[in-house]
Amino acid sequence: MAMAMNVSSACFCVSGNRRSVNRVRAVASEDFAASKIKEDKVRLGGSDLEVTRLGIGAWSWGDTSYWNNFEWDDGKMKAAKAAFDSSVDCGITFFDTAEVYGSGVRSGCYFQFILTNIDGKLMDIIFGSSYSVPSNSETLLGRFIEDRKLKDPEVEVAVATKYAALPWRLGRQSVLAALKESLDRLGLSSVELYQLHWPGIWGNEGYIDGLGDAVEQGLVKAVGVSNYSESRLRSAYEKLKKRGIPLASNQVNYSLIYRAPEENGVKAACDELGVTLIAYSPIAQGVLTGKYTPENPPTGPRGQIYTPEFLTKLQPLLNRIKDVGQNYSKTPTQVVLNWLVAQENVVPIPGAKNAEQAEEFAGALGWRLTSDEIDELRSLALEVKPVIGFPVEKL
Ligand SMILES: NC(=O)c1ccc[n+]([C@@H]2O[C@H](COP(=O)([O-])OP(=O)(O)OC[C@H]3O[C@@H](n4cnc5c(N)ncnc54)[C@H](OP(=O)(O)O)[C@@H]3O)[C@@H](O)[C@H]2O)c1
Repeated sequence: MAMAMNVSSACFCVSGNRRSVNRVRAVASEDFAASKIKEDKVRLGGSDLEVTRLGIGAWSWGDTSYWNNFEWDDGKMKAAKAAFDSSVDCGITFFDTAEVYGSGVRSGCYFQFILTNIDGKLMDIIFGSSYSVPSNSETLLGRFIEDRKLKDPEVEVAVATKYAALPWRLGRQSVLAALKESLDRLGLSSVELYQLHWPGIWGNEGYIDGLGDAVEQGLVKAVGVSNYSESRLRSAYEKLKKRGIPLASNQVNYSLIYRAPEENGVKAACDELGVTLIAYSPIAQGVLTGKYTPENPPTGPRGQIYTPEFLTKLQPLLNRIKDVGQNYSKTPTQVVLNWLVAQENVVPIPGAKNAEQAEEFAGALGWRLTSDEIDELRSLALEVKPVIGFPVEKL
């Protein structure tokens, strides 16, 4: 595990052959690193909720609209479960899901809206699921937690989920109703963080009231928003503050090559108000890992965004990220996640589809790029024209 290389081996002495000693040392080192990650938590905004410095995004779990080549099967489910278990083994215990991930709430309007705006034409979206294995992200996460608790009753996992502000959902009551359905799917009596997934087109007052009610009814520990502009963020913060409830977080698209939050005032407002910025798509949906090239672009809807032309322009930055990583024996994925953590007040939530991806994320923690490297990567990234984000962040 990459993570094991970050932290010096725990003092451990065992007799036996060299291979088994090395294995024991590696396990001891991994355990030590995992416990450091688990203990080194950050408080989300002014709330009492503490989470690991990096979380895991569960959008792809069960999803057949954007990820997984429009197919979900038992093998993919087992890989997602392994991603969950490996994350917990590595000390990462914060998971982000949403009612619209996978086949939960009919998410067609949401996804059609995104894809229409990205490439200017409407693309067909598959609704629901005919699969025999569960394909709703909340349901899957709930089962993974339940299974894990059977083996390890002490395990503590922080769950973040989200309310879909669909145009036909109005008022505070709709937030509580949706939350209760999410809790049913998760098999939990409360969640750690409940977020408004995007701003409502008719207004947000009722939704913010609903978040406050959820806290007061003990259904959630902390509340946040997502895809909120600076002015919406400030209004939500003030409205909750009147009830004595802190706005814990704003979850927005933020990566080395998508720095809109630095330019539109969202990052500065989060820092000023003490609201944690949760960074989604922090590895630019896989392209910052370096595995996609102009000759091997991603397939499916991602291929429409990260085209061979885009990937060609990205290569100089990717090469430099790789070089920087070599100084620390780190992969490009670990470098770009470390870059985000170094921005302070930022918790990245990369999506993991399998155990290997989750393990790699853990190696992003426990070390730090120098400020010269951070600045150099930011200026090199300025050469790359950002892709179009989720239009709702401009609502
Ligand atoms: N609030 C919102 O509106 C919103 C929007 C988007 C996302 N999110 C949240 O943010 C989370 C993360 O964002 P995201 O899933 O869009 O993008 P991301 O985290 O930037 O990219 C995730 C994808 O990168 C690839 N990958 C992951 N680890 C890798 C590794 N170590 N090496 C190589 N490839 C790797 C995987 O896809 P492949 O293996 O197929 O390449 C994976 O699905 C989501 O799961 C969700 O929880 C929220």
